[in-house]
Amino acid sequence: MRRLDVELGERSYPIFIGEGALRESAERIAELCGGGRAAVVTDTNVRAAHGDALSDVLRSRGVEAETVAVEPGEGGKSIANLERLYHAFAGFGLRRSDAVIAFGGGVVGDLAGFAAATYMRGVALVQIPTTLLAQVDSSVGGKVAVNIDEGKNLVGSFYQPRLVISDVSLLGTLPERELYSGMAEVVKYAAIGESGLAGLLASRGAPSGRLGDIVYMCCRCKAGYVRRDERDTGERMTLNFGHTFGHAIEKYYGYGTYLHGEAVAMGMALAARAGEALGVTSPEASRELLGLMDTCGLRYDFDGDPGCLIPLMAGDKKNTDGDITLILLENFGAPTSRRISGGALGRALTADAAQTG
Ligand code: GLY
Repeated sequence: MRRLDVELGERSYPIFIGEGALRESAERIAELCGGGRAAVVTDTNVRAAHGDALSDVLRSRGVEAETVAVEPGEGGKSIANLERLYHAFAGFGLRRSDAVIAFGGGVVGDLAGFAAATYMRGVALVQIPTTLLAQVDSSVGGKVAVNIDEGKNLVGSFYQPRLVISDVSLLGTLPERELYSGMAEVVKYAAIGESGLAGLLASRGAPSGRLGDIVYMCCRCKAGYVRRDERDTGERMTLNFGHTFGHAIEKYYGYGTYLHGEAVAMGMALAARAGEALGVTSPEASRELLGLMDTCGLRYDFDGDPGCLIPLMAGDKKNTDGDITLILLENFGAPTSRRISGGALGRALTADAAQTG
């Protein structure tokens, strides 16, 4: 088990990564449940696959646990489920000295995290991510939220966990599609500059090898961005490489058609194409990015009209005045942030389509 620290002054916290990290972290979890109780938030798939493992760990340290399982999928991040959690916490008698344990993927982490941030004005949060995507991204950095009809993540907060446990053995039951979705985020970290990661991926290819090392390197990269820009007002936005296009692709096809990482893979390919057409991205950088996605077995072709994505991107809550803030690569490993008008981006994508079509 390896340790990384997210350095945020008095809100710093450790991430433990490796095979068996859950069992090895039992004492640390118990320390955060000062009142002797933990509310475990999970989904029904994770409960069936790994619920007993967590229960055994908690029981071994005398922590009394109550589990609430939501339905798997993005629909779980609803106000209705949030309210359900508050009632369950109150019914269980959860106190401020107890802890909420988010045991699942990004949906569970965001939902449980926002419930922990707001219940009794904040109780300790432990993130135990069970998907690759959550281990390399969403469990670290404190973004927690639920969705409302008007948009994803519109109600949320920054609320840092007290402890993150990324036990890569939990990924053994993950459907292959979910694993590849997580790999798209992994490639993102290589593209934005986590040195050594591209080499590791290129030598390994498929996600099965060296998962502990991969998760460690991604978390190291993310922890740096979070330390330098916790509130996502500047440098942390670099983590959005591929995401502005990706979020628009998710909307374009309807949420749930593509997994988040699948849309991000397409988004990174589109960002590379647009960046080249705008004269920002070197052709070598695009080649390296697409080559790495090929090596990792990722699919990244967007078969729609890229022009249709622009209004969806301009409506993104991070963009104003029809300008779109995009993270582009200058070179592989060297990202840059550019504000581009919707019109200029549309022309770049059309020019690019004319060249490649
Ligand atoms: N998922 C991107 C971030 O945490 O900023």
